[in-house]
Amino acid sequence: MEQLLKQIAAYKSEIEVTNISDATQVEEFRIKWLGTKGIVKAMMSEMKNVVPEQKKEAGQVLNEFKLFVESKFEIFKSSIETQQGSNVNVLDLSLPGDEVLIGSRHPVTLMRNRIVSIFQRLGFAVAEGPEIEDDWHNFGALNLPEHHPARDMQDTFYVQQNPDWVLRTHTSSVQIREMEKGKLPIRMLMPGRVYRNETVSARSHCFFHQVEGLYIDENVSFADLKQTLYFFVKEMYGKDVKVRFRPSYFPFTEPSAEMDVSCFICGGSGCNICKKTGWVEILGCGMVHPNVLSNCNIDPNKYTGFAFGMGIERPAMLKYGINDIRLFSENDVRFLKQFSSSI
Ligand code: DAH
Repeated sequence: MEQLLKQIAAYKSEIEVTNISDATQVEEFRIKWLGTKGIVKAMMSEMKNVVPEQKKEAGQVLNEFKLFVESKFEIFKSSIETQQGSNVNVLDLSLPGDEVLIGSRHPVTLMRNRIVSIFQRLGFAVAEGPEIEDDWHNFGALNLPEHHPARDMQDTFYVQQNPDWVLRTHTSSVQIREMEKGKLPIRMLMPGRVYRNETVSARSHCFFHQVEGLYIDENVSFADLKQTLYFFVKEMYGKDVKVRFRPSYFPFTEPSAEMDVSCFICGGSGCNICKKTGWVEILGCGMVHPNVLSNCNIDPNKYTGFAFGMGIERPAMLKYGINDIRLFSENDVRFLKQFSSSI
Protein backbone atom coordinates (compact mmCIF):
# COMPACT_ATOMS: atom_id res chain seq x y z
CA MET A 1 0.00 0.00 0.00
CA GLU A 2 2.76 2.36 0.95
CA GLN A 3 4.43 1.45 -2.29
CA LEU A 4 1.29 2.38 -4.20
CA LEU A 5 0.94 5.75 -2.50
CA LYS A 6 4.56 6.60 -3.22
CA GLN A 7 4.13 5.62 -6.84
CA ILE A 8 1.02 7.81 -7.21
CA ALA A 9 2.71 10.80 -5.60
CA ALA A 10 5.58 10.44 -8.08
CA TYR A 11 3.20 10.23 -11.04
CA LYS A 12 1.28 13.28 -9.80
CA SER A 13 4.35 15.42 -9.60
CA GLU A 14 5.36 14.25 -13.06
CA ILE A 15 1.97 15.31 -14.40
CA GLU A 16 2.08 18.64 -12.59
CA VAL A 17 5.25 19.66 -14.41
CA THR A 18 4.06 18.40 -17.79
CA ASN A 19 3.97 21.18 -20.35
CA ILE A 20 1.51 20.95 -23.17
CA SER A 21 1.60 23.37 -26.09
CA ASP A 22 -0.33 21.73 -28.94
CA ALA A 23 -2.99 19.17 -29.80
CA THR A 24 -0.46 16.42 -30.57
CA GLN A 25 0.93 16.68 -27.06
CA VAL A 26 -2.58 16.49 -25.64
CA GLU A 27 -3.12 13.27 -27.54
CA GLU A 28 0.25 11.91 -26.41
CA PHE A 29 -0.71 12.69 -22.84
CA ARG A 30 -3.99 10.83 -23.25
CA ILE A 31 -2.34 7.75 -24.74
CA LYS A 32 0.39 7.66 -22.11
CA TRP A 33 -1.89 8.00 -19.09
CA LEU A 34 -5.42 7.09 -20.12
CA GLY A 35 -4.98 4.88 -23.22
CA THR A 36 -5.80 1.15 -23.20
CA LYS A 37 -2.12 0.41 -22.66
CA GLY A 38 -1.63 3.48 -20.52
CA ILE A 39 -0.37 3.84 -16.97
CA VAL A 40 -3.77 4.20 -15.26
CA LYS A 41 -5.08 1.02 -16.90
CA ALA A 42 -1.91 -0.85 -15.89
CA MET A 43 -2.26 0.27 -12.29
CA MET A 44 -5.89 -0.81 -12.23
CA SER A 45 -4.91 -4.31 -13.37
CA GLU A 46 -2.43 -4.48 -10.49
CA MET A 47 -5.43 -4.45 -8.15
CA LYS A 48 -5.70 -8.22 -8.41
CA ASN A 49 -2.37 -8.57 -6.61
CA VAL A 50 -3.43 -6.46 -3.65
CA VAL A 51 -4.20 -8.37 -0.48
CA PRO A 52 -7.95 -8.52 0.27
CA GLU A 53 -7.83 -6.39 3.44
CA GLN A 54 -6.26 -3.49 1.47
CA LYS A 55 -8.40 -3.83 -1.63
CA LYS A 56 -10.96 -1.24 -0.58
CA GLU A 57 -8.44 1.44 0.31
CA ALA A 58 -6.29 0.77 -2.74
CA GLY A 59 -9.38 0.97 -4.94
CA GLN A 60 -10.27 4.40 -3.57
CA VAL A 61 -6.73 5.73 -3.97
CA LEU A 62 -6.51 4.49 -7.53
CA ASN A 63 -9.90 5.90 -8.44
CA GLU A 64 -9.00 9.27 -7.06
CA PHE A 65 -5.78 9.19 -9.10
CA LYS A 66 -7.70 8.27 -12.24
CA LEU A 67 -10.05 11.26 -11.75
CA PHE A 68 -7.02 13.49 -11.21
CA VAL A 69 -5.48 12.41 -14.54
CA GLU A 70 -8.80 12.78 -16.38
CA SER A 71 -9.36 16.28 -15.10
CA LYS A 72 -5.81 17.28 -16.07
CA PHE A 73 -6.45 15.89 -19.53
CA GLU A 74 -9.68 17.95 -19.85
CA ILE A 75 -7.85 21.10 -18.78
CA PHE A 76 -5.06 20.56 -21.33
CA LYS A 77 -7.58 19.79 -24.05
CA SER A 78 -9.76 22.83 -23.52
CA SER A 79 -6.85 25.22 -23.13
CA ILE A 80 -5.50 24.10 -26.52
CA GLU A 81 -9.00 24.38 -28.08
CA THR A 82 -9.49 27.95 -26.89
CA GLN A 83 -6.02 28.87 -28.10
CA GLN A 84 -6.85 27.52 -31.56
CA GLY A 85 -10.34 29.02 -31.49
CA SER A 86 -9.11 32.48 -30.68
CA ASN A 87 -6.69 32.24 -33.59
CA VAL A 88 -9.47 31.34 -36.02
CA ASN A 89 -12.22 33.75 -34.86
CA VAL A 90 -10.22 36.88 -34.33
CA LEU A 91 -12.68 39.74 -33.79
CA ASP A 92 -11.83 42.42 -36.34
CA LEU A 93 -13.56 45.57 -35.12
CA SER A 94 -12.51 47.49 -38.22
CA LEU A 95 -14.71 45.38 -40.55
CA PRO A 96 -17.83 47.18 -41.84
CA GLY A 97 -21.05 46.01 -40.11
CA ASP A 98 -23.77 43.90 -41.75
CA GLU A 99 -26.65 45.93 -43.08
CA VAL A 100 -29.86 45.30 -41.15
CA LEU A 101 -33.03 45.89 -43.17
CA ILE A 102 -35.56 47.47 -40.83
CA GLY A 103 -38.57 47.44 -43.15
CA SER A 104 -40.84 50.39 -43.86
CA ARG A 105 -44.53 51.09 -43.73
CA HIS A 106 -46.69 50.53 -46.78
CA PRO A 107 -47.59 53.81 -48.52
CA VAL A 108 -51.30 53.04 -48.07
CA THR A 109 -50.71 52.61 -44.34
CA LEU A 110 -48.76 55.87 -44.22
CA MET A 111 -51.58 57.77 -45.92
CA ARG A 112 -54.23 56.10 -43.76
CA ASN A 113 -52.32 57.00 -40.59
CA ARG A 114 -52.02 60.60 -41.76
CA ILE A 115 -55.74 60.89 -42.44
CA VAL A 116 -56.67 59.15 -39.18
CA SER A 117 -54.35 61.29 -37.07
CA ILE A 118 -55.88 64.52 -38.39
CA PHE A 119 -59.41 63.44 -37.49
CA GLN A 120 -58.28 62.04 -34.16
CA ARG A 121 -57.30 65.57 -33.22
CA LEU A 122 -60.95 66.51 -33.72
CA GLY A 123 -62.06 63.75 -31.36
CA PHE A 124 -62.89 61.06 -33.93
CA ALA A 125 -62.34 57.48 -32.72
CA VAL A 126 -61.41 54.62 -35.08
CA ALA A 127 -63.65 51.62 -35.83
CA GLU A 128 -63.45 48.71 -38.25
CA GLY A 129 -65.96 46.29 -39.76
CA PRO A 130 -65.98 43.02 -41.74
CA GLU A 131 -64.87 42.88 -45.38
CA ILE A 132 -67.49 40.24 -46.21
CA GLU A 133 -70.77 42.03 -45.61
CA ASP A 134 -74.42 41.16 -45.83
CA ASP A 135 -76.67 42.95 -48.28
CA TRP A 136 -78.35 44.92 -45.52
CA HIS A 137 -75.20 46.60 -44.21
CA ASN A 138 -73.63 47.25 -47.60
CA PHE A 139 -76.84 48.37 -49.37
CA GLY A 140 -80.24 48.01 -47.72
CA ALA A 141 -79.69 50.03 -44.56
CA LEU A 142 -77.90 52.69 -46.59
CA ASN A 143 -81.16 53.47 -48.39
CA LEU A 144 -80.30 51.28 -51.37
CA PRO A 145 -83.17 48.77 -51.45
CA GLU A 146 -83.14 45.81 -53.83
CA HIS A 147 -83.42 46.82 -57.50
CA HIS A 148 -82.48 50.42 -56.65
CA PRO A 149 -80.69 51.75 -59.76
CA ALA A 150 -77.94 53.31 -57.63
CA ARG A 151 -76.66 49.80 -56.82
CA ASP A 152 -75.15 49.91 -60.29
CA MET A 153 -72.88 52.76 -59.18
CA GLN A 154 -70.68 50.06 -57.64
CA ASP A 155 -69.84 46.80 -59.40
CA THR A 156 -70.29 44.26 -56.68
CA PHE A 157 -68.57 40.92 -56.01
CA TYR A 158 -71.12 38.45 -54.65
CA VAL A 159 -70.11 35.46 -52.51
CA GLN A 160 -71.17 32.28 -54.33
CA GLN A 161 -72.14 30.20 -51.27
CA ASN A 162 -74.56 32.81 -49.98
CA PRO A 163 -76.33 35.29 -52.27
CA ASP A 164 -76.86 37.57 -49.28
CA TRP A 165 -73.12 38.12 -48.88
CA VAL A 166 -70.96 40.58 -50.78
CA LEU A 167 -67.38 41.80 -50.57
CA ARG A 168 -68.13 45.26 -49.23
CA THR A 169 -68.06 47.86 -51.96
CA HIS A 170 -67.46 50.75 -49.57
CA THR A 171 -66.68 51.43 -45.92
CA SER A 172 -70.13 53.04 -45.52
CA SER A 173 -71.27 49.61 -44.27
CA VAL A 174 -69.29 50.25 -41.07
CA GLN A 175 -71.40 53.40 -40.48
CA ILE A 176 -74.42 51.15 -40.14
CA ARG A 177 -72.64 48.82 -37.74
CA GLU A 178 -71.64 51.75 -35.56
CA MET A 179 -75.14 53.29 -35.56
CA GLU A 180 -76.74 49.93 -34.75
CA LYS A 181 -74.78 49.80 -31.51
CA GLY A 182 -77.16 52.49 -30.26
CA LYS A 183 -74.54 54.58 -28.47
CA LEU A 184 -74.87 58.28 -29.24
CA PRO A 185 -73.32 60.68 -30.08
CA ILE A 186 -71.06 59.05 -32.67
CA ARG A 187 -67.81 60.55 -33.91
CA MET A 188 -66.06 57.76 -35.81
CA LEU A 189 -63.49 57.21 -38.50
CA MET A 190 -63.63 53.88 -40.30
CA PRO A 191 -60.69 52.90 -42.51
CA GLY A 192 -60.61 49.64 -44.45
CA ARG A 193 -60.31 47.67 -47.67
CA VAL A 194 -63.14 47.59 -50.21
CA TYR A 195 -63.77 45.55 -53.36
CA ARG A 196 -65.26 46.30 -56.76
CA ASN A 197 -65.56 44.19 -59.87
CA GLU A 198 -63.54 46.48 -62.09
CA THR A 199 -60.95 45.75 -64.73
CA VAL A 200 -57.53 46.09 -63.18
CA SER A 201 -55.45 48.81 -64.83
CA ALA A 202 -52.89 51.44 -63.89
CA ARG A 203 -55.73 53.66 -62.61
CA SER A 204 -58.23 51.28 -61.04
CA HIS A 205 -58.11 48.04 -59.10
CA CYS A 206 -60.58 45.43 -57.91
CA PHE A 207 -59.67 46.23 -54.33
CA PHE A 208 -58.57 49.46 -52.71
CA HIS A 209 -58.92 51.35 -49.44
CA GLN A 210 -61.29 53.98 -48.10
CA VAL A 211 -61.76 55.98 -44.95
CA GLU A 212 -65.30 56.68 -43.85
CA GLY A 213 -66.26 59.41 -41.39
CA LEU A 214 -69.48 59.68 -39.39
CA TYR A 215 -70.69 62.28 -36.93
CA ILE A 216 -74.14 61.95 -35.34
CA ASP A 217 -75.48 64.18 -32.58
CA GLU A 218 -78.27 66.65 -31.93
CA ASN A 219 -78.16 69.78 -34.09
CA VAL A 220 -75.38 68.71 -36.44
CA SER A 221 -75.57 70.82 -39.61
CA PHE A 222 -74.01 71.04 -43.06
CA ALA A 223 -71.91 73.91 -41.68
CA ASP A 224 -70.32 71.45 -39.23
CA LEU A 225 -69.57 69.12 -42.13
CA LYS A 226 -67.90 71.90 -44.10
CA GLN A 227 -65.88 73.13 -41.14
CA THR A 228 -64.64 69.64 -40.31
CA LEU A 229 -63.58 68.97 -43.90
CA TYR A 230 -61.96 72.41 -44.26
CA PHE A 231 -59.85 71.61 -41.22
CA PHE A 232 -58.90 68.24 -42.68
CA VAL A 233 -57.93 69.66 -46.06
CA LYS A 234 -55.75 72.44 -44.59
CA GLU A 235 -53.94 69.95 -42.37
CA MET A 236 -53.53 67.50 -45.20
CA TYR A 237 -52.68 69.69 -48.18
CA GLY A 238 -51.56 72.98 -46.62
CA LYS A 239 -53.36 76.20 -45.70
CA ASP A 240 -53.23 77.69 -49.21
CA VAL A 241 -55.30 74.94 -50.80
CA LYS A 242 -58.73 75.96 -52.10
CA VAL A 243 -61.83 73.86 -51.61
CA ARG A 244 -65.12 73.57 -53.48
CA PHE A 245 -68.25 71.53 -52.92
CA ARG A 246 -70.23 70.24 -55.91
CA PRO A 247 -73.78 68.99 -55.49
CA SER A 248 -73.89 65.24 -55.99
CA TYR A 249 -76.04 62.22 -55.29
CA PHE A 250 -75.59 59.37 -52.81
CA PRO A 251 -78.65 57.43 -51.64
CA PHE A 252 -77.45 57.49 -48.03
CA THR A 253 -77.03 61.27 -47.75
CA GLU A 254 -79.34 64.21 -48.38
CA PRO A 255 -78.13 66.69 -49.45
CA SER A 256 -75.00 65.11 -50.94
CA ALA A 257 -71.84 66.70 -52.24
CA GLU A 258 -68.44 65.92 -53.61
CA MET A 259 -65.48 67.91 -52.46
CA ASP A 260 -62.64 69.03 -54.70
CA VAL A 261 -59.37 70.64 -53.72
CA SER A 262 -57.34 72.93 -55.95
CA CYS A 263 -54.76 70.74 -57.68
CA PHE A 264 -51.80 70.45 -55.35
CA ILE A 265 -49.54 69.37 -58.20
CA CYS A 266 -49.96 72.41 -60.49
CA GLY A 267 -51.48 74.76 -57.92
CA GLY A 268 -54.63 75.14 -60.01
CA SER A 269 -53.16 76.18 -63.35
CA GLY A 270 -53.98 72.83 -65.01
CA CYS A 271 -51.92 69.63 -65.45
CA ASN A 272 -52.37 65.95 -66.33
CA ILE A 273 -53.29 64.97 -62.78
CA CYS A 274 -56.26 67.38 -62.62
CA LYS A 275 -57.02 66.83 -66.32
CA LYS A 276 -56.39 70.55 -66.92
CA THR A 277 -59.31 71.54 -64.67
CA GLY A 278 -57.22 72.82 -61.76
CA TRP A 279 -59.30 70.69 -59.32
CA VAL A 280 -58.92 67.20 -57.85
CA GLU A 281 -61.90 65.35 -56.42
CA ILE A 282 -61.08 63.86 -53.03
CA LEU A 283 -64.27 62.75 -51.31
CA GLY A 284 -68.02 62.27 -51.23
CA CYS A 285 -70.08 63.55 -48.32
CA GLY A 286 -73.47 64.72 -47.12
CA MET A 287 -76.01 64.83 -44.31
CA VAL A 288 -77.00 61.32 -43.24
CA HIS A 289 -80.36 60.49 -44.87
CA PRO A 290 -83.24 60.26 -42.34
CA ASN A 291 -84.09 56.80 -43.72
CA VAL A 292 -80.59 55.60 -42.79
CA LEU A 293 -80.99 56.89 -39.24
CA SER A 294 -84.41 55.18 -38.94
CA ASN A 295 -82.95 51.93 -40.32
CA CYS A 296 -80.55 51.97 -37.37
CA ASN A 297 -83.21 52.88 -34.80
CA ILE A 298 -81.99 56.46 -34.40
CA ASP A 299 -84.75 59.08 -34.22
CA PRO A 300 -84.25 61.41 -37.23
CA ASN A 301 -86.37 64.08 -35.54
CA LYS A 302 -83.92 64.28 -32.67
CA TYR A 303 -80.59 63.47 -34.27
CA THR A 304 -78.84 64.62 -37.42
CA GLY A 305 -75.38 63.88 -38.71
CA PHE A 306 -72.93 64.03 -41.53
CA ALA A 307 -70.86 61.39 -43.28
CA PHE A 308 -68.03 61.37 -45.76
CA GLY A 309 -65.96 58.79 -47.57
CA MET A 310 -62.64 59.05 -49.35
CA GLY A 311 -60.23 56.75 -51.12
CA ILE A 312 -56.69 56.29 -49.82
CA GLU A 313 -54.79 55.10 -52.89
CA ARG A 314 -55.37 58.21 -54.97
CA PRO A 315 -54.03 60.75 -52.46
CA ALA A 316 -51.12 58.37 -51.78
CA MET A 317 -50.36 58.19 -55.52
CA LEU A 318 -50.41 61.96 -55.74
CA LYS A 319 -48.29 62.48 -52.66
CA TYR A 320 -45.61 59.93 -53.53
CA GLY A 321 -45.73 60.32 -57.33
CA ILE A 322 -46.87 56.73 -57.94
CA ASN A 323 -48.28 56.29 -61.43
CA ASP A 324 -49.67 52.75 -61.27
CA ILE A 325 -52.16 51.58 -58.62
CA ARG A 326 -51.10 47.94 -59.15
CA LEU A 327 -47.74 48.65 -57.50
CA PHE A 328 -49.50 48.84 -54.12
CA SER A 329 -50.38 45.15 -54.16
CA GLU A 330 -47.41 43.59 -55.95
CA ASN A 331 -45.24 43.36 -52.82
CA ASP A 332 -42.12 44.30 -54.74
CA VAL A 333 -39.57 45.16 -52.08
CA ARG A 334 -37.81 47.59 -54.43
CA PHE A 335 -41.04 49.61 -54.45
CA LEU A 336 -41.94 49.19 -50.79
CA LYS A 337 -38.57 50.07 -49.30
CA GLN A 338 -38.72 53.58 -50.70
CA PHE A 339 -41.21 54.82 -48.16
CA SER A 340 -39.98 56.18 -44.88
CA SER A 341 -41.66 54.91 -41.73
CA SER A 342 -41.68 58.29 -40.06
CA ILE A 343 -45.40 59.06 -40.47
N1 DAH B 1 -69.54 55.28 -50.14
C1 DAH B 1 -69.21 56.25 -51.16
C2 DAH B 1 -68.39 55.58 -52.24
O1 DAH B 1 -67.82 54.56 -52.00
C3 DAH B 1 -68.45 57.40 -50.59
C4 DAH B 1 -69.29 58.23 -49.69
C5 DAH B 1 -70.03 59.27 -50.18
C6 DAH B 1 -69.35 57.94 -48.36
C7 DAH B 1 -70.81 60.06 -49.36
C8 DAH B 1 -70.14 58.71 -47.52
C9 DAH B 1 -70.86 59.77 -48.04
O2 DAH B 1 -70.21 58.51 -46.21
O3 DAH B 1 -71.61 60.54 -47.20
O4 DAH B 1 -68.27 56.11 -53.30
